[in-house]
Amino acid sequence: MIGRYWIETWGCQMNVHDSEKMAGVLEGLGYRLAPERSAADLVLLNTCAIREKAEDRVYTALEQLRPLKLSRPEMIIGVCGCVAQMTGEAVFARAPFVDLVIGPRAVSRLPDLLGRLKDERGLIDTTLYQDSVLQPDQPVRRGRTKAYVTIMEGCNKTCTYCVVPGTRGREVSRPLDAVLSEVQQLAHDGFREVEFLGQNVNAYRCPASRAGLGDLLRGSSRVAGVKRLRFTTSHPLHLREPIIRAMAEVPQVCDYLHLPVQSGSSRILARMRRGYDREKYLDRIDEVRSAVAGISLSTDVIVGFPGETERDFEQTLSLVESVRFDQMFSFVYSARPGTPAAELADDVVYGVKVRRLMRLQALQHEIQLERHRELIGREFEVLVEGPSRRDPQEWAGRTTCNRVVNFSAPESGPGQFVRVVITAAGPNSLRARRLECGTVPGLVEIA
Ligand code: SAH
Ligand code: SF4
Ligand code: F3S
Repeated sequence: MIGRYWIETWGCQMNVHDSEKMAGVLEGLGYRLAPERSAADLVLLNTCAIREKAEDRVYTALEQLRPLKLSRPEMIIGVCGCVAQMTGEAVFARAPFVDLVIGPRAVSRLPDLLGRLKDERGLIDTTLYQDSVLQPDQPVRRGRTKAYVTIMEGCNKTCTYCVVPGTRGREVSRPLDAVLSEVQQLAHDGFREVEFLGQNVNAYRCPASRAGLGDLLRGSSRVAGVKRLRFTTSHPLHLREPIIRAMAEVPQVCDYLHLPVQSGSSRILARMRRGYDREKYLDRIDEVRSAVAGISLSTDVIVGFPGETERDFEQTLSLVESVRFDQMFSFVYSARPGTPAAELADDVVYGVKVRRLMRLQALQHEIQLERHRELIGREFEVLVEGPSRRDPQEWAGRTTCNRVVNFSAPESGPGQFVRVVITAAGPNSLRARRLECGTVPGLVEIA
C-alpha cells in the first residue's frame, strides 16, 4: 500500500541530505509527506552514531513509536543511517517492532526493500555499496535557497575515536560531469547557493578525469545563477594548494572554512591519529588566511580524549585563543564501540571533561562576541534563508562568511540577496539594517 511517509533526521549535513534523497525515492514511489508522525504509514528514523547521546536519542524516539505501532501494526518503521549501519541486526533485539534496518549506503535499495515488506518483516540491508554515490537520485529539497550536493561518500581516515569510516565505508567520488549537471539543474530550479558534501570533501577526485575539488569549484562557478559555493567537511591534511587557490581566486567560493582541529595538543592529536600536529595545523591556518584575506574560520574540538592532561587541554585553549575562530563546535569525548580509542583507558573523569568543555566554551563565547562586535558598521550581502528564529516578523540570512544576520525588510524574501549594515552583535548572530534599495544604487540584487 502506498501511503504517507515521515522522516526524522539526526546528525550531520550528509544525513540531512540522505533524508532528502530518501524522500525523493519515496515520492518517486508515490508516497506523500504526512502532516505529522502519527499520521504516517511509513516512518524512517535517519540516525547518527557519532556520540553515545546521539545514539540514545534514537532509542528514545523508538520508544515513543512503540505504542503507535501497537495500535497500527500495518505501519512501517525503519531505522536508517549510521546507527543502523553500526548496530545492524541488534536493532531488532532492542526494538523488535522495527520492520526495516537500512545503512546509509543502501538508500537506493529502498524501493526493493519496501516491495519485499509486503510479505516479510525484519528486513535488513547494511551493505556498504561501493556504487551508492553513482546512483541517480532525485532528492526532495525542503529549502529553496541552498542545496546540498553529495560529491563523495565515505572516509578513508583512521581517527581513533570516530565511527564514520565504519558507518559510511570507503571513499568513493562522484564523476565531475554528474556533479556539474546537478549544479546546472539546481541553478535552473532557482537555488542560489550550493554546498558540496563529503566526510573528507577535500579528498574528492573525479574517477574519470581525476579532477579535484579545486577543479570542481572552478567548473561550478561557470554555472550561471549559482552565486555561492561552499564545501564541508575539510581535513587539514587534504586541504591542498589547488583548493586554497580556488578559494582565493573564484569569487563564488565563500570566504568561510570549517577546519576541524580536534585538539591543540600534538600528543593528543597523535593519539587521535589525525595525521598532523599543532604546528602543521597552525601553518595551514596561516596559509589559508594569507590566501583569502578576512576568511571566517570554524572548527570542531573534542575535550577529554583518553590521556588528555590539564596541560594538553591548556594547549587546546591556547590554540583557540591564538586562532580566534569565528565559530566552534565542541564535544565531550564519547567512547564508541568498535573504534580503536574505545580500547584505551577512558581515564579523564566525567566531571573534569565537563568542566573543560565549559571553560573552552566560555573562552570561545568571548572570542565570538569580540569578533562579531568588530563587524558593527560593516556592510554585507546577505542571502535570505527564512524567517528569523527570534522574531518571525524579521528575516534571517547568511553572509558569505557564514554569519547569521537578522534584519527587518518586509518586502524581501527567501532566496533574495539583501545589502545590510551591521548594527548590533551577539555571540551567535548579528542584527542589521537593510540598506535601502534606490538610495544606494546597485546594492540590492533580487534573485
Ligand atoms: N569528517 C569530519 C567530522 C565528522 S564528525 C572531520 O573529519 O572533521 C563531527 C565531529 O564530531 C568531529 O569533528 C569531532 O569533533 C566530533 N566527534 C567525532 N567522534 C567523536 C567522539 N567519539 N566523541 C566526541 N566527539 C566526536
Ligand atoms: Fe571521522 Fe576522522 Fe573521517 Fe572525520 S576524518 S569522518 S573525524 S575518521
Ligand atoms: Fe553522525 Fe553518521 Fe554524520 S555518525 S555525524 S550521521 S556520518
